[in-house]
Amino acid sequence: MTENSKVFVDLDVATMRESDVAYGMIQDAAIVVTNGAIDWVGPIADLPSGYGTLVRTSLAGRLVTPGLIDCHTHIVHGGDRAVEFEMRLNGASYEEVARAGGGIVSTVKATRSATEDTSLADALRRVDVLIAEGVTSIEIKSGYGLDRETELRMLRVARAIGNKRDITVRTSFLGAHATPAEYKGRDDAYIDEVCIPTLRAAHAEGLVDAVDGFCEGIAFSPEQIARVFDVAKELGLPVKLHAEQLSNLGGAKLAARYGALSADHLEYLDEDGVRAMADAGTVAVILPGAFYTLRETQAPPIAAFRKHGVPMALATDINPGSSPLNSLLLTVNMGCTLFRLTPEEALRGVTCNAARALGLTDVGVIESGKRADLAIWDVKHPAELAYRIGFNPLHTRIFGGAA
Ligand code: NIG
Ligand code: FE
Repeated sequence: MTENSKVFVDLDVATMRESDVAYGMIQDAAIVVTNGAIDWVGPIADLPSGYGTLVRTSLAGRLVTPGLIDCHTHIVHGGDRAVEFEMRLNGASYEEVARAGGGIVSTVKATRSATEDTSLADALRRVDVLIAEGVTSIEIKSGYGLDRETELRMLRVARAIGNKRDITVRTSFLGAHATPAEYKGRDDAYIDEVCIPTLRAAHAEGLVDAVDGFCEGIAFSPEQIARVFDVAKELGLPVKLHAEQLSNLGGAKLAARYGALSADHLEYLDEDGVRAMADAGTVAVILPGAFYTLRETQAPPIAAFRKHGVPMALATDINPGSSPLNSLLLTVNMGCTLFRLTPEEALRGVTCNAARALGLTDVGVIESGKRADLAIWDVKHPAELAYRIGFNPLHTRIFGGAA
């Protein structure tokens, strides 16, 4: 305890610790924050007398949770694909849209032609919406550059977001997202000549926290992804993977073999893959925004994740194509309504399990020694965070102890 300590009282806290009590809930609690970290949390009746002299801040019965964590986003990207959305609703097929210059390629074009300043300004508008919902950590991927210059620029913009705003940013290099037009039909050459050298360059610049890929018929094969992951391993970087989104190629199994932090999407994952993830401790990141936007009908294997003890996280997957979903609270609701997650599972999905999907050990739960990243809500019960649609009950967001 120092003069930098603050005591919050008159609150209930969903600590999200592993506990027999739902949400790791403590009613009528106190939280002591010292130098940006949680010093003590527990029932106010147990508050050590040493803290008794500190000034108390009443939260008037509000609920406190860990600051929310969005563990899968493509929030840095140029342009939008609203016209493509409209074309599809007017009857055009995905292929016709692509032939008319839509799809991932159009986002690559727009991202390549944007300056670092405009990319940053555009992304900050989206980040600010998340911040207003109590988000305190976010993952940001590259993958709409697909050339050295633009991939590096995207990652620099991601780092800049962490400097411009009070938010923790974890970057993922997603060079193996799609094959750019100039390498059409030469996927292997793209991996060898662009993706891997760019990964090395980005790592040398300190721009990469993890390495991601898209393992799919329309993207890269497990063998191609393995070549990228071998380089990640050599560089000492953790991996994650877009896997089993549209078909089952064994991507999650491959990711598990590399000890992946997470495998993401997973609608077409089989029980074998679930077992491999459980053995490796790989988090299943569920993305209801893409499921909804693509009008997918096959849900990820939630029951098998439960059965085998695979931790589940939820994220927005914010991107201009498959998931233009700029709300983590709505994502929590969709996780419950579309996939029948319980509100507790959904809240764990955007706190403790999202932290694990990013390899972050100091956030996602409220306990002594963790960073004081907190969200204070005008709700009585944590299920309210999952239940309302299009309503933001955030009262105050605290990042590293500061409001
Ligand atoms: O996470 N699955 C691959 N990538 C993105 C979407 C890419 C796009 O359509 O622009 C996703 O869904
Ligand atoms: Fe994605």
